[in-house]
Amino acid sequence: MFTHLPTPQLDPILSLSVAYKNDPRSEKVDLGIGVYKNSAGETPIMRAISQAQDIVVATQQTKSYVGLAGCEEFNQSMVNLVLGGTSVLDRVSAVQTPGASGALRMLGDLIKVAQPNTTVWISNPSYVNHKPVMEAAGLKVNYYRYFSPQTKQVDKGMMLEDLAKAGQNDVVLLHGCCHNPTGADIDFDAWQQITALAQKNGFTPFVDVAYQGFGDGLDADAKGLRYMADNVDEMLITTSCSKNFGLYRERTGAAIVLGQSTVDANNAKGKLLTLARSTYTMPPDHGAALVKTILQNQELTEVWKQELSEMQQRLLSLRKSLCDELRNAHNTSQFDFIESHKGMFTVLGFSQSQMSQLREEYGIYGVGDGRINIAGLTEKDIPYVAEAIIKVS
Ligand code: LMR
Repeated sequence: MFTHLPTPQLDPILSLSVAYKNDPRSEKVDLGIGVYKNSAGETPIMRAISQAQDIVVATQQTKSYVGLAGCEEFNQSMVNLVLGGTSVLDRVSAVQTPGASGALRMLGDLIKVAQPNTTVWISNPSYVNHKPVMEAAGLKVNYYRYFSPQTKQVDKGMMLEDLAKAGQNDVVLLHGCCHNPTGADIDFDAWQQITALAQKNGFTPFVDVAYQGFGDGLDADAKGLRYMADNVDEMLITTSCSKNFGLYRERTGAAIVLGQSTVDANNAKGKLLTLARSTYTMPPDHGAALVKTILQNQELTEVWKQELSEMQQRLLSLRKSLCDELRNAHNTSQFDFIESHKGMFTVLGFSQSQMSQLREEYGIYGVGDGRINIAGLTEKDIPYVAEAIIKVS
């Protein structure tokens, strides 16, 4: 049965973590997988999560099943976090999923059932899992131009030109904020223009928001997608608690559907539940129980927001320190774009072979597409990483 299977391709991100762990060099730096590290190089359990964990342990009475949709209070809390302040809350439904990749797959499967001939347009480049997940759901994938390798910013003109070709059988996948891998986000004007194209040409927007709070803050990071939700008939959203609640291994996310009516949104949810039943039945509870505990408690919500904001500020200061080091110690402003990028990631503009050189010669692990995770840096790594960047460039 398995003899004809080819040797599997390694995942371009997850395989790096294994290679990094096995690297004996003491100077190695892990800038691969998108995980936040503090100045000590640790990924701590967030303060609000620790407190919520104590509450859950002290109050939880049973480990019996929750339900196909997971925890409904969690689902409602996630809808409020992402779509708070919009006028669409009465035609929205949500299900808890195993992480945002689980949400991507659930919504991919939903699209396949609702409109089998759909093509999903993704940015070039995009999160490495977007294409495989959409294709695994049986959908066609097309690319829209997004990033200018020259300016290291979004090329809005090219992007809009490509998206103008998307029509009724198309879904356009956008990054809500903190674009993965480039770090280059679209501005509010682009959100408005894409919304206008969706209205005019009939494509369905699909927003993946996995880093809310890491860019400009919780509300600012959702501004574009909230505008879009307020102005389109239908929309799909995936969201994650991996990064902003630091719940990576707990696989905590949600799939949100905006329908033309309450009935449509509920029918879509019903379909998502049968899809979940035939896949994993129901999502794991622990992470959602913690997030629900935080978001339903004002005091804990404040503790969480404070720490998230500290993390966001630290990312800005790491970006600045890396640029300062490159400018002051190496006399180059070639990498100033790093400071303009948002969230965890930046694409350096390096080729696969330059990224290999960083890894092989310096023990600096970034993704083959040129992505480095700024949130994986510690302050003490900056001179070493800056020097390696210069040597390799
Ligand atoms: C990343 O892009 O590094 C993260 O989203 C981890 C993942 O699931 O790939």
